[in-house]
Amino acid sequence: EQPEGRAFAPVNIALCKYWGKREEELNLPQCSSLSISLGPLGTETVVRRADAGATEDRVELNGACVDASTPFARRLCAFLDLFRPDPGARFEVSTKNNVPTAAGLASSASGFAALTLALDRLFGWKLAGPPLSQLARLGSGSAARSVYDGFVLWHAGRDPGGADCLAERLPEVWPELRVGILTVCAEAKETGSTGGMNRTAATSVLFREWAERCRVDLQLLRDAIRAGDFTRFGATAEANAMSMHATMLDARPPLLYWRAETVAALHGVRELRDAGTEVYATIDAGPNVKLLFRERDEAGVRGRFPDMDVIAPFRQPRNDSCSPR
Ligand code: DP6
Repeated sequence: EQPEGRAFAPVNIALCKYWGKREEELNLPQCSSLSISLGPLGTETVVRRADAGATEDRVELNGACVDASTPFARRLCAFLDLFRPDPGARFEVSTKNNVPTAAGLASSASGFAALTLALDRLFGWKLAGPPLSQLARLGSGSAARSVYDGFVLWHAGRDPGGADCLAERLPEVWPELRVGILTVCAEAKETGSTGGMNRTAATSVLFREWAERCRVDLQLLRDAIRAGDFTRFGATAEANAMSMHATMLDARPPLLYWRAETVAALHGVRELRDAGTEVYATIDAGPNVKLLFRERDEAGVRGRFPDMDVIAPFRQPRNDSCSPR
């Protein structure tokens, strides 16, 4: 039996979104982004060297063997290519997601982060958070943020090789923060993030303004987090998501990730706010909605959205690898 590396990484949800790359091969983003990790939701991965003679990587997802020709296995094996001690080396990877099925939470972020942390253990590199975030980024951009719990800032950087493109955990802790996950539609999204953001960058005229929006929103969010200003935090996160979806709609052909239920949820959020319950919404490249609110408003929000899953990001984190600075 070969030695193994095992690690968990949380899913994350961006409050200031990553939508657009300055370089595709290395997943270098056009703009910096900011997220909150949603431990204990995430991915646990075990990786080991396959016995000599193995001709293919063996990939298991939630206990079932995944065919090497699937997009999932191919993306994973392409990432493993970066880490083979010799060209013939093969790996066995077993990965488990505890994200509620089809919740539309990007499991590629937690997946590549967990695999990176597991490889770090297997090979005994003992890398710090920032270099781990750089490696995870090569699998999927948003994975750079999933190597940490809590609020995470992913710096776009300027270096063409990505030397300064890394994530750091922010020191602020908001124990009262809650994230509600509304699975409004379980269908698989039609256009993945990579293709969607590239199409937007190539064809949307609004996309030119998006970078400046993100620079301003990122500063507002950082200030709000530092000041403990939930209203500014939630309003900025919601507005940033709406701006991202505006660029998506402006792509040619347009990208429409929302379903009728998505719009209904957004109206529900507004109605709650008008009635004095402070709740904000954010949406990624899919139809599902994530709600941001505080512990004190949980009952009020649940009254309108009885089926939501609630995460307390600072109460129940589960990330055994990169502890806060
Ligand atoms: C809308 O990280 O999945 O969720 O780097 O091409 O793998 P690749 O894209 P990915 O994009 C995430 C897009 C988003 C916004 C965000 O998480 O910041």
